[in-house]
Amino acid sequence: MKQINIAIDGTSGSGKSSTAEKLVEKLGYIFVDTGLMYRAITWIFLKNNVDNKDTEKMKKYLSDFSFLNNGEYIQAGEYKIPVKDLTNEKVTKNTPKYAKISLVREYMVKIQKSVATKKGIIMVGRDITSVVLPAAELKVFITTSDPLVRAKRRLAQNIGKKDVSHDLQNVLDEINNRDKDDTLRKDGCLTNRNCNLIIDNSDKNLDEVVDIIIKEVNNLTKK
Ligand code: C5P
Repeated sequence: MKQINIAIDGTSGSGKSSTAEKLVEKLGYIFVDTGLMYRAITWIFLKNNVDNKDTEKMKKYLSDFSFLNNGEYIQAGEYKIPVKDLTNEKVTKNTPKYAKISLVREYMVKIQKSVATKKGIIMVGRDITSVVLPAAELKVFITTSDPLVRAKRRLAQNIGKKDVSHDLQNVLDEINNRDKDDTLRKDGCLTNRNCNLIIDNSDKNLDEVVDIIIKEVNNLTKK
């Protein structure tokens, strides 16, 4: 069966990653979660007290950065980081502060482009459809228009987890702040302008969203 590349962008907490995981199960494609890359470099910067204005220090860690995801752990440069340490409140809050720096994006985009030289990739993030893989055959934008719905969903996912917020207002503020930072930055801003499929999943469950995307994949691969 012919394979294509699928680029997915969307707002924070909109279910992009869960959608991609389901697509991977159905299509047997490779999932690249670029959010985890930005989270991993943020974790490294925080661990080494790298100020987001210290270009030289950022360059040092960026040039040593590589990224390998084995599911439970991320091997990022010399660090083996448990995935759960990348989704805690501290890393989540700080990631957009580093992700808006053009130097950081330059390094990340270069790695992301290099992993998508073959077909059969599902890459998820904020600038995948516009900057990283603008030539992907299928470019999807996923959102849940009401941030409160996303916050409630995230709160439910946080049950039983440590180092994450269990307060609805807190989670809502974090989602709104991230969307604002991700949309307003100069480089690699969140946009749906290059997408050929825009899905608001407010009134759709995961399977319905996956079915819509699979239908498009089938259309594109039978041509
Ligand atoms: O997707 P996820 O919520 O894990 O991403 C964490 C943060 O990483 C985002 O809020 C955004 O600031 C940054 N990011 C980005 N570009 C991407 C993917 C993520 O700036 N392609």
